[in-house]
Amino acid sequence: MNIPFVNLKRMHDRFRNEIDEAVKSIIDSNNYIMGKPVEQFETGFAEYLGVKHVIGMSSGTDALFLALKVLNIHNGDWVITVPHTFIATSEAITMAGGKVVFVDVDKKSSNMSPTKLEHYLNSLDAKSLKKVKAVIFVNLYGSPEDLDNIYSITKKYGIPLISDAAQAHGARIDNKPITDFADLTTYSFFPGKNLGAFGDAGAVGVNDSEKADKLKMIRNHGRTEKYIHPVEAFNCRMDTLQAAILDVKLRYLEDWNRHRIKSAKLYNTLLEKKGYDTPTLDEKYRRVFHLYVIRVKDREKIITDLGNKGVSTGIHYPLPLHLQPAYEYLGYKKGDFPACEKLSEEILSLPIDGTITEEEIGYICNLLPDYK
Ligand SMILES: Cc1ncc(COP(=O)(O)O)c(C=O)c1O
Repeated sequence: MNIPFVNLKRMHDRFRNEIDEAVKSIIDSNNYIMGKPVEQFETGFAEYLGVKHVIGMSSGTDALFLALKVLNIHNGDWVITVPHTFIATSEAITMAGGKVVFVDVDKKSSNMSPTKLEHYLNSLDAKSLKKVKAVIFVNLYGSPEDLDNIYSITKKYGIPLISDAAQAHGARIDNKPITDFADLTTYSFFPGKNLGAFGDAGAVGVNDSEKADKLKMIRNHGRTEKYIHPVEAFNCRMDTLQAAILDVKLRYLEDWNRHRIKSAKLYNTLLEKKGYDTPTLDEKYRRVFHLYVIRVKDREKIITDLGNKGVSTGIHYPLPLHLQPAYEYLGYKKGDFPACEKLSEEILSLPIDGTITEEEIGYICNLLPDYK
């Protein structure tokens, strides 16, 4: 059996005619920048999420960058995030002019540890604490676990919180939108995401109308109307063509998310029988399983064996950010973030998407050795 990591083709084949129609309508309209399709997608996605405003962007990285800019990050301001994420999270901090500061994750949730964040903030003297101008929490693998607890801490310290939901479209906490638990929430529509474009795209979700207006202005050359620019800014607009495609795919997002959750449950049932410690599923945190990640022993052998039987896997992520050559200048060393380092050695991502079948999951689980 051949099981790709994400089967985009099978997904798109199911509504290919709707996509073709959407693309055709953009070509017929001859309007490729901004306009109604972008507004329509923003309104639809805001309704889906349960947030007041969605502002379409050119990518998830740019969404983070502009969220930081709206918070006026500049001139070496400290921004705290985790070393266990895709580099875009920390890159955006540097792009905005801030300084990257890492805090370790929790071993079980894989997300920023509230205890470690609080411990770090408590360890700072008053002058250093003043330098901390934002925290970016990452809803890794689609899980918002502890976002609410991190938000309580950042509110207590008066530090704004950005929630990187690049992997978490539709995640909820206590049945409330995760956008209620941060000052700004950013999304990526990279093709393989739970909601993916046919290229790069992203968005910011925000309840504060002033921040929304500012985001709309700075994503589009700082303009308020044609050729009127109160500020110099950036070009981080969402392509009209991507918006039209995303609007079609948005109709299916909730079904795909439900399918992902059901698939994760089946994985858990089959893998627990083999002794694996599986991802948590509970009522409080609605995880949307962008990735289904387990910890394994003898990872290289498992990857090769599964690959030989047609199953693609991934590692998210194999080298923690604080140990990346790009961040050598920050002066971190091995051993600084033990939970993240241990995870990076043991984690393995198995195929999951909105269409994976029970038969495929059974096939994959059969191939995995017992965990002992
Ligand atoms: C956690 C996280 N943050 C940010 C990004 C950046 O998004 P994009 O690739 O759309 O720039 C990604 C995805 O690639 C991601 O997984």
